[in-house]
Amino acid sequence: MKTVIATKFGGPEVLEVRDVPVPKPREGQVRIKVHAAGLNYADIMQREGLYPNGPKPPFGVGFEVAGTIDAVGSGEIAYKAGDAVMAFCESGYSEYVVADAARLFPKPDSLDFAAAAAVPCQYLTAYHALLTLGNLSAGQTVLLQAAAGGLGTLMVQIAKNVGATVIGTCSSEEKVELLSELGCDHPVNYAKKDFAQEVKRITNGQGCELVVESVAGEVFDKSMRCIKTRGRLITLGAASRQPATVNAIHLLANNLTVSGFHLLAYTVDGEAMAKSLRDLQQWLGEGKLRIVARHQFPLVAAAEAQQFVSDRKSAGKVVLTTGA
Ligand SMILES: NC(=O)c1ccc[n+]([C@@H]2O[C@H](COP(=O)([O-])OP(=O)(O)OC[C@H]3O[C@@H](n4cnc5c(N)ncnc54)[C@H](OP(=O)(O)O)[C@@H]3O)[C@@H](O)[C@H]2O)c1
Repeated sequence: MKTVIATKFGGPEVLEVRDVPVPKPREGQVRIKVHAAGLNYADIMQREGLYPNGPKPPFGVGFEVAGTIDAVGSGEIAYKAGDAVMAFCESGYSEYVVADAARLFPKPDSLDFAAAAAVPCQYLTAYHALLTLGNLSAGQTVLLQAAAGGLGTLMVQIAKNVGATVIGTCSSEEKVELLSELGCDHPVNYAKKDFAQEVKRITNGQGCELVVESVAGEVFDKSMRCIKTRGRLITLGAASRQPATVNAIHLLANNLTVSGFHLLAYTVDGEAMAKSLRDLQQWLGEGKLRIVARHQFPLVAAAEAQQFVSDRKSAGKVVLTTGA
């Protein structure tokens, strides 16, 4: 089968497509025939050697897939061959993966495989950052950076579903259009307008109750100026590769909270996970959540797909398809 390996840290050219044996599931595992592998920004940061505690090369790239179970290992496993699932796994950019049964979710019928590949990482991050950690509620205003991205397009819709007002930043008019379609109240193309000035104008100088920040550097500093008194900022990424520094005096003077978010700590919280999956089913059923997965690349074009995302050309989810 084909799999994608990062041979060393570096640009997309370090990715190699290799033929390797199909893996065998061990106790408590299943094997999944992959239909779509999710591409996440973390894959790019890992390839560049910039991801905290990331893998050392050579390593199999990718960590989420959607597909069909084709073999089941020993032990008590609540899934069977033929089940359509979404999963966290290692070496996700592959034609087949093995995954722990505890890290699988049944694929909702209403999602095709490409859309389902956005659930393990981007949907769950969007949900738990905004609601479990962020406590976003009706009547509040939230500022979302990279709002037209894979994570961002889901955050916009989840924030609307709980009754918040959404200000979302992005870098092009095409992305502004997508954000409007998804219900974003105030899409801001930061290439044309200063987002901090826009937040000031929209909130009558008050700022937002919640900011979700994934760019770091200058954008982090400016985002800190967009928080309302007693408001909060969640930092969950550093797409600019620049450091972000908190000014303690600004925090105390304005009663602000800054929190870090990493999904892993939430996927082990059974109650929070069950709630996020129930809400997913409900929103899908009510037509209140749409997973935008219009950028699909064949698995063998993984390097091109990653470059496309690095170049900020993507909007919504990007997936690699195996042709299965
Ligand atoms: N902590 C966690 O658990 C967790 C989980 C998932 C994702 N994340 C983070 O959330 C962010 C979004 O992830 P994603 O996979 O959904 O990616 P994405 O948003 O689809 O792609 C990244 C976007 O970031 C924006 N961006 C702003 N400055 C950039 C820069 N200097 N270089 C490249 N892009 C820049 C671009 O949108 P514009 O062109 O519109 O600005 C780009 O499309 C990433 O930073 C990721 O690491 C964190």
